[in-house]
Amino acid sequence: MERTLVLLKPGCLQRRIVGEVLSRFERKGLKIIALKLVKLDGATAEAHYAEHREKPFFGSLVEYTLSGPIIALILEGNEAISVVRRLAGLTKLQDALPGTIRGDYAAQTQLNIVHASDSSASSERECALFFKAGEIFPWEDGNQAWF
Ligand SMILES: Nc1ncnc2c1ncn2[C@@H]1O[C@H](COP(=O)(O)OP(=O)(O)OP(=O)(O)O)[C@@H](O)[C@H]1O
Ligand SMILES: [Mg+2]
Repeated sequence: MERTLVLLKPGCLQRRIVGEVLSRFERKGLKIIALKLVKLDGATAEAHYAEHREKPFFGSLVEYTLSGPIIALILEGNEAISVVRRLAGLTKLQDALPGTIRGDYAAQTQLNIVHASDSSASSERECALFFKAGEIFPWEDGNQAWF
């Protein structure tokens, strides 16, 4: 089992597509084990995107991330990191295939709806940046062993 950190960027709330995006993860059988609505502070947004600090779009990316509340969640599942990246779709507007979240909803590369961890090292770092241990609630499927 893997865990991955997903952010629904501010455009998700603004466009009223939170339920639609979350349902794609649930439909795939991923487990939501942590979830919150949060307005980030500058330091957290910059830490989250630290790998892009030298890129020309860093300032506007952080500004967009701070432009409204976001939803942060941790998903758990088999191969969750790569599965969620595939559900999200590719980064660039012109590469994101129809049927993926970005392919269906993103109208600009920067406003591309979701963030998803890209490796187990990123997932570990990002889960810890957004959630304290006491805010993560793993659970079992009980009698319905679907997955
Ligand atoms: N050329 C670009 N112009 C504007 N914004 C960009 C560009 N490339 C990336 N971004 C923004 O920066 C974010 C981080 O870029 P990254 O290369 O890490 O892509 P990603 O891993 O697909 O996205 P994320 O980290 O948000 O899941 C992208 O999701 C997008 O919002
Ligand atoms: Mg990334």
